[in-house]
Amino acid sequence: MDLINKKAIVFGGTSGIGLATVKMLEIAGTEVVAIGRSSEKKSQLPNGVKFVACDVRDEMSVKKLLEKLAPFDILISSATGGERAIGPFLEMDMDGFKGSFDKLWGYANVVRHGAKHVTDGGSITLVSGSPARNCRPGQIALSSVGGAVEAMARALAKEISPRIRINIVSPGTINTPMVTLTGTEREKLYENMTKDNLIPRAGTSEEVAEGLMYVIKNQFVTGTTVDVDGGWLLS
Ligand SMILES: NC(=O)c1ccc[n+]([C@@H]2O[C@H](COP(=O)([O-])OP(=O)(O)OC[C@H]3O[C@@H](n4cnc5c(N)ncnc54)[C@H](OP(=O)(O)O)[C@@H]3O)[C@@H](O)[C@H]2O)c1
Repeated sequence: MDLINKKAIVFGGTSGIGLATVKMLEIAGTEVVAIGRSSEKKSQLPNGVKFVACDVRDEMSVKKLLEKLAPFDILISSATGGERAIGPFLEMDMDGFKGSFDKLWGYANVVRHGAKHVTDGGSITLVSGSPARNCRPGQIALSSVGGAVEAMARALAKEISPRIRINIVSPGTINTPMVTLTGTEREKLYENMTKDNLIPRAGTSEEVAEGLMYVIKNQFVTGTTVDVDGGWLLS
């Protein structure tokens, strides 16, 4: 797909992976609307990118917003949704486990109310995460949610075919504002998290955004998951 003069809606477009994708789309000549809850983060957006505040968990707000912004060619969500529980399942607080699925409910809201507004030949892209297919200790909530996101997209690909496409990009450990630690503490955390990976470093938001750009542009790709994970799945 030629991205010039297309319109993209990016939920979670104000930080990290979503923001890097917003920047790449804007450079490619696409009109972009970035969405997040906090308007404080909009200062990082390129000039010309519109910001709208919306919580993906609020179904009616998502529906109304997408009706207002329609039609669009590219629909993306990388919005984390809410807090994710970490730790062994058998010791996990059930509310924490259930709450981790806010990411799935957010994605479901975006797709349910957005798909019909995507123009013919357009696409939807969502972001999962490597624990979906290779769960490391303490990541059962992340793994369960990520697995559900990937399964939902594969099923949806059949439902929305051939008019539009849907794909997933699955990041490994990526250095984004999701982690709030700074300085040496931050460096040590990423070092520990990635030391056994085939590529022993955290990835960048731009490296993941390249994965999103690939599935957006390539019109022969649907129902697939692109891993941008430094070899996590084999590590
Ligand atoms: N970073 C990693 O290592 C990593 C690894 C695997 C998977 N992922 C996945 O990649 C995606 C992006 O992560 P990231 O690292 O780029 O995170 P990030 O830097 O924290 O950015 C998250 C974005 O989502 C928005 N957001 C979060 N909850 C929202 C909600 N309820 N409604 C609307 N917007 C919301 C945030 O803005 P507001 O907070 O202002 O709403 C922000 O724009 C997530 O789905 C994450 O699970 C990340």
